[in-house]
Amino acid sequence: MAELSLPKNSRVQRGRSFEAPPGATRVREFKIYRWSPDDSENPRLDSYKIDLDRVGPMVLDALIHIKNEIDPTLTFRRSCREGICGSCAMNIDGGNTLACLKPTAEIKGAVAIYPLPHMPVVKDLVPDLTTAYAQLQSIEPWLQADSPPPPDGERRQSEDERAKLDGMWECILCYCCTTSCPSYWWNGDKYLGPATLLAAYRWIIDSRDENTGARLDALEDPFKLYRCHTILNCTQTCPKGLNPAQAIAEIKKLLVERRA
Ligand code: SF4
Ligand code: SF4
Ligand code: FES
Repeated sequence: MAELSLPKNSRVQRGRSFEAPPGATRVREFKIYRWSPDDSENPRLDSYKIDLDRVGPMVLDALIHIKNEIDPTLTFRRSCREGICGSCAMNIDGGNTLACLKPTAEIKGAVAIYPLPHMPVVKDLVPDLTTAYAQLQSIEPWLQADSPPPPDGERRQSEDERAKLDGMWECILCYCCTTSCPSYWWNGDKYLGPATLLAAYRWIIDSRDENTGARLDALEDPFKLYRCHTILNCTQTCPKGLNPAQAIAEIKKLLVERRA
């Protein structure tokens, strides 16, 4: 039987340990992935024991506490701390989610934190999303119409037409879904992944957009769209409760319907 093992330089090693402050009563351990491009060290897991009485309730609060009070070298992205910007997406306790929406109290035992899986790492918890952003750009996520807008300047929609966009406009492009998708892990260079396909469907069904045919043409490809095998990890993991797998299924349905 073939034996598989990671190359030596990808093995995650035990890192440094930071003990809880004296007198701490509600101590919780955070085990955090660390890697820097500035040295030739392997990635490591650093352990931080922190007093939960001194931090806010969310995992992001703990990360900010660690950076401010214990270890300023810890690197991660965050901005809004309200589940709006999508920048604090990471793998927490085995699942992709937003650190600012994940209560520490929901996690049993040590809190394990890694960057979003199967992406190149810029540093520590910061994934390199260059490819994912280029894929988003490739579906041209903006309104396209050759006809002139009405004289009052607005392209109107009925309530029903507008309602079709619900479940899509809420996407914050955190890429929790895309990085949880096994098809994307293996074919991420060619398969667009659930976040980008959700965005594509958002424009395909927008009643004001006049480029629907060309948008569908661009997706009719064995890799860009059809690598989705309906595994549903994407929908399960979305921290905004969206359903990218359904959007992908709807695109496939439209492609079948237009062939009939
Ligand atoms: S349903 Fe499709 S996009 Fe979602 S995780 Fe599965 S293969 Fe990936
Ligand atoms: S569909 Fe959900 S998980 Fe995927 S990018 Fe949008 S908000 Fe994030
Ligand atoms: S900090 Fe903006 S979504 Fe978490």
